[in-house]
Amino acid sequence: MDWIERRREQLERAGQAHLLRFWDELNEAERAELRGDLDGCDFSEVEHFFCQAVKASGPLQQQQQTMDERMEPVPKEVQGSVTRDRERLPEWKAEGLLQISESKVAVLLLAGGQGTRLGVTYPKGMYNVDLLSQKTLFQIQAERILKLQQLASKQFERKCTIPWYIMTSGRTMESTEEFFVKNGYFGLQKENIILFQQGMLPAMTFDGKAILEGKSKVAMAPDGNGGLYRALGNKEIVKNMEDRGIGYIHVYCVDNILVKVADPTFIGFCVKQQADCGAKVVEKTNPTEAVGVVCKVNGLYQVVEYSEITLVTAQKRNPDGRLTFNAGNICNHFFTLPFLKDIVEIHEPQLRHHVAQKKIPYVDDQGQQIIPDKPNGIKMEKFVFDIFQFSKKFVVFEVLREDEFSPLKNADSQDGKDTPTTARHALMSLHHRWVLNAGGYFVDENGTRIPAIPSLKELTDLPIKCEISALVSYAGEGLDKYVAGRDFRPPLIIDENGAHELTKNGL
Ligand code: UTP
Repeated sequence: MDWIERRREQLERAGQAHLLRFWDELNEAERAELRGDLDGCDFSEVEHFFCQAVKASGPLQQQQQTMDERMEPVPKEVQGSVTRDRERLPEWKAEGLLQISESKVAVLLLAGGQGTRLGVTYPKGMYNVDLLSQKTLFQIQAERILKLQQLASKQFERKCTIPWYIMTSGRTMESTEEFFVKNGYFGLQKENIILFQQGMLPAMTFDGKAILEGKSKVAMAPDGNGGLYRALGNKEIVKNMEDRGIGYIHVYCVDNILVKVADPTFIGFCVKQQADCGAKVVEKTNPTEAVGVVCKVNGLYQVVEYSEITLVTAQKRNPDGRLTFNAGNICNHFFTLPFLKDIVEIHEPQLRHHVAQKKIPYVDDQGQQIIPDKPNGIKMEKFVFDIFQFSKKFVVFEVLREDEFSPLKNADSQDGKDTPTTARHALMSLHHRWVLNAGGYFVDENGTRIPAIPSLKELTDLPIKCEISALVSYAGEGLDKYVAGRDFRPPLIIDENGAHELTKNGL
C-alpha cells in the first residue's frame, strides 16, 4: 500500500478524510507540502487533545461562579516585594549574582508565538520599536545577558556563562536562527545560545475537524507557550542543562521590553526561599484589567484569567484598599532544574490544552480561501504557568510595573495599549529615571533644567528621549561616572563610548 492509500485510510478512521479532498488536483510540489503537514500530525492524539480541551471548557457563566468559590489569594508568607522588603533586596541580589557567577543560572525565552496582533510576519524578537539605537528586542535581551555575566564575573572574580535557551516554532525557527547568525549572536558565544522548536497543532472547527487553510495546507499553529514542556522532552534540552550544571532557570516572554533577564534579585529571592517554582508579578490595580492573576484554586497555585471570574470577585478589595486578587502575572518564572525535569518527565501529559476561539482562514469546497469575519474554529494551547499546581514550594515576587513590565502585543493605533509606542516610552521613561537617580539632569532647548517631578501638563507630553545601553547598565547601576552633576539636552544615548546628546553631535 503506498503513502496516499495508507494516509487516506488513517484519516478516514480519524474522521479527517476531508483534508485530502483536493489531492487529485494538486501538483507534485503541493502534494509534498500537504504530505509534510499530514506527516507532522498524529490525528488520534489531536482528537484526544480536542476532546479533553473542549470538555474542560464548559459554559462561561457556570465556570466563573465555580471559580469564584474555589479561589483564594496568594498567602503573605510566600510573597516577596521590591517595595515592602526593601532591606532584604541586597541579600537576595547577592545570592542571585553568586549563583550566576557559578554558571548555575540559565534563561529560557519563549519565542514561538505568531505575533498575530502585532501583525508582523517575522519573529517578534526581531521587532524594532524605534528606540534611538534602533535595537531589536532580541538585541536588548542579549546585551542584558552579557552585562549580567560581566557584573557577576567581576564581583566574584571568575568567568561565568548564562546560557540562553530560545524556544521557537515551525514558523519562527529559521528566521530567528538567521537573525542571530547575521548579527554575530550580539556578542554572546554561539554555543551558549541554544535554539529549539516547539510543536504545532492543527486548528479545528468547533466540531473537531482539522481546517485546511489552502488546498494543500493544513491550518497549523504552535501549541501555546506551555508547549515548552513537551518540546523540552523531545529535544534533550534538559540534558543539555544538566551537562552544564544548571540549577535554576528564568523563563520569560519575548515581548516585554523591560524584562530583567536572569534578574539576580528574583533568582536570589527564590533560592533563599528554597522554592522550586516562582512567579514575578505586578500589582493589578484596576479590577477590569485583562491580566491573569496568580492565586490558589482548590489549594493549588494557578493563574486565573480575568475572563474566568465574575466582576464581583475581580472587584473585591482588602481592608488596605488593594485588590484581593492583585498578583498580576507577567510571564516571568523561576524553576529549579529538578522541578522542570519532573514536569517534563512526569506531569506534562496531565496538562490540558486551553481553547482559544479564532478567525481561521479556510478553503471552501471550490478551493477558494475565505477569511472569516467571526470565529469559526479553535486553536489548542497549553500555557507555561499551567505547571504551578505541581510546585511543592511556590513563591511570588512583586515588582513595579513601571520598572519591569511593558509588553508589545498590538500594532500602533491611537490610544492603543501594549504597542511599539508604549514599549518605547516605557523604556525611555525608565532610563530617564536612572539618569536622575544617578545625579544627572535634563535641560530644555533654553538650557533650563526640566523638573524631576513633572507638572500635570508635562505628564501629557512625550517622554524625554533617553536610552542607556544594557552594556553600560543592567538595572541603573554604575551611571554616576557618566551623568552625576551634568546637564543633558535630550535625545541622550549612553553607551560604551559615553553619554552623547544626539542633536549636538548631529546624529
Ligand atoms: P502571546 O500569547 O502574547 O502570543 O505570547 P503572541 O504569539 O506573541 O501574539 P498573538 O497572540 O499571536 O498576537 C506570549 C509569549 O508566549 C510566546 C510568545 O512568543 C510570547 O513570548 N508563545 C506564544 C510561544 O512561545 N509559543 C506559543 O505557541 C504561543
